[in-house]
Amino acid sequence: MRYLFVLVMSAGVAWGPPGMSAAEPATAIHVDLTQPGKPISGDLFGIFFEDLNYAADGGLYAELVQNRSFEYQATEQMRWGPLTNWDVATFGDGRGSLVVDAGRPLNRNNPHYAVLDVSRAGDGVGIANGGFDGIVVRKGQIYDISLFARQLYVERRWGGRPIKQDDKFSLVARLIGENGDALGETTLEYSGSGWQHLQGEIKATGSDQKARLVVLTKARGGIAFDVVSLFPRDTFHGRPNGLRKDLAETIAALRPKFVRFPGGCLVHGNGLANMYRWKDTIGPVEQRREQANLWGYHQSVGLGYFEYFQFCEDIGAEPLPVVPAGVCCQNSGHTAGAGQEGLPLDEMPEYVQEVLDLVQWANGPATSEWGSKRAAAGHPEPFHLKYLAVGNEENITPVFEERFRMIYDALAIQHPEITVIGTVGPFPDGPDYEKGWRIADRLQLPIVDEHYYRPPDWFLDNLDRYDAYDRGKSQVYLGEYAAHEPDRRSTLRSALAEAAYMTQLERNGDVVRLASYAPLLAKRGHTQWNPDLIYFSNTEVTPTINYYVQQLFSVNSGDEYLVVSSDQGQPADDSSLATSCVRDSASGDVILKLVNVGKEPIPLRLELDGAGNFDKSAICRVLTGERLAVSEFGTPKPLVPTTAQIAVGKSFEYEAPAHSLTVVRLKPR
Ligand code: AHR
Repeated sequence: MRYLFVLVMSAGVAWGPPGMSAAEPATAIHVDLTQPGKPISGDLFGIFFEDLNYAADGGLYAELVQNRSFEYQATEQMRWGPLTNWDVATFGDGRGSLVVDAGRPLNRNNPHYAVLDVSRAGDGVGIANGGFDGIVVRKGQIYDISLFARQLYVERRWGGRPIKQDDKFSLVARLIGENGDALGETTLEYSGSGWQHLQGEIKATGSDQKARLVVLTKARGGIAFDVVSLFPRDTFHGRPNGLRKDLAETIAALRPKFVRFPGGCLVHGNGLANMYRWKDTIGPVEQRREQANLWGYHQSVGLGYFEYFQFCEDIGAEPLPVVPAGVCCQNSGHTAGAGQEGLPLDEMPEYVQEVLDLVQWANGPATSEWGSKRAAAGHPEPFHLKYLAVGNEENITPVFEERFRMIYDALAIQHPEITVIGTVGPFPDGPDYEKGWRIADRLQLPIVDEHYYRPPDWFLDNLDRYDAYDRGKSQVYLGEYAAHEPDRRSTLRSALAEAAYMTQLERNGDVVRLASYAPLLAKRGHTQWNPDLIYFSNTEVTPTINYYVQQLFSVNSGDEYLVVSSDQGQPADDSSLATSCVRDSASGDVILKLVNVGKEPIPLRLELDGAGNFDKSAICRVLTGERLAVSEFGTPKPLVPTTAQIAVGKSFEYEAPAHSLTVVRLKPR
């Protein structure tokens, strides 16, 4: 049965058919609120975070120092090296130089460090970092400075040669505004020998959007530095090594039911050596193994598995990690050979164990080997991992299948409590999709991950895609989707196409278990992929129209689907209006969604059996705009939903505005 109710407007024109106008008789929409609905997924709408477009370093991860560990490489960007974004700052007639060294590193995961050689102290000589396009400093805020230092020698000489010796010395960590003004500082004292961890706090005495951090000495000699870090104290939920508050709050406001992370293509990596290995991303940040980001920059992995899981917990979302399926990205290229490669089979047992260890790390007792590492990071309680995705839109080859199967079999035997999500390639159809589904059928996978980026019209032409899905097969995680305009802008048209599509995701929430728009974040000026859900700079966060569509659905989701019928008969492909209706069984609220993609308002008569059991006034949220092609940039007033109360009852009139999404939320009396 096809549950979707769609009004027939006019043949052949999807976006703005002539025909119905406000003067025409209202069409009846009928929902029976007295009947139990069809059970649907309570986790349907979530988010997908990938470190793409500087989403992590320079983005959600609140670290303000760029290249804090001196691990940038020319293999990431041609002009990069360990000293990228660092230079020498001199005060008075101070003189010094900066070189990179790797002789006595902090640990083998962190091989490079910087050596400052001060030949004339003057009023100070230091290392300076300009952050990610400048460091934003706000007057009155506290900034936490942390670094590792090691004294190489003091300026005492024996026979003309510098003597290496341990000693005590002071460093000054200072914030300096674009015009050279000091914005606050603190003194850090070194004593002892070898690498020492120094920490302090700076209270900002002024504000600047392009400040620099300088760590300086007023003595001659040589000092090694590594993992020079600066965080605002005011992170999301006040977490140390935490997340940028405004961005995290914008994500949290989506109230996602789950967070998929850390990719995307980032997960399977550019060549086998670049696969994302979760164990490299936990523990003290200075011990994590940094690496190239396949999107052309660097991963400090300061935002690692612990921080991802903690964020999920903080926002009440299920964690949905994705691990590589033992193969690298099929698009692996210039730096890493070509195409998909599999881990050598003799390395697979160890790799399979790595995946199993993730489950123990997340859910095992604090006394277990990997659970103890979670506990050591400050989280003795389990994280209650429920979903685990293996692979990301791989080409479905024998090399992939063999390795996927090894991982899946081990998980199925050792962790039947985990819902494993397989993959069916990069597209909504075609050979990988078909081969992926054949594997899913054979293995009876619980869920498979579908991806599609398609024009708005594709979404409207496929509003019945899941109506026909066999309910006896694997469920679907629509892990990545977005309506793409030819110029890749976010528009009202793409947002409404997604909204219409999301009504079918609700209607088919018995087979579509999870869905997430992609990608989530993009830093302006550092964007490798458009469109994205949320754009940001160092000081601003700009949600797109598509963000508000996601939000209207996710905060108004339910776990029962109520059939919507109309007096217009069967739907047609040239539809203009899409609807869905869900009940949230916890609150008893019923939520009706109406998506009018057409250019004319649609007068409706809403007939709700059992409306007497609900308040006579309902919250009505509407997202609409005059021009479908409007994009979120360059508009004086970006589109945001409006909120009003409307009178509801057994039968009432409502006009769905042209180009609109309406969400009506009824509350039980
Ligand atoms: O979302 C951006 C990219 O699109 C993802 O990394 C990949 O899975 C897909 O091709």
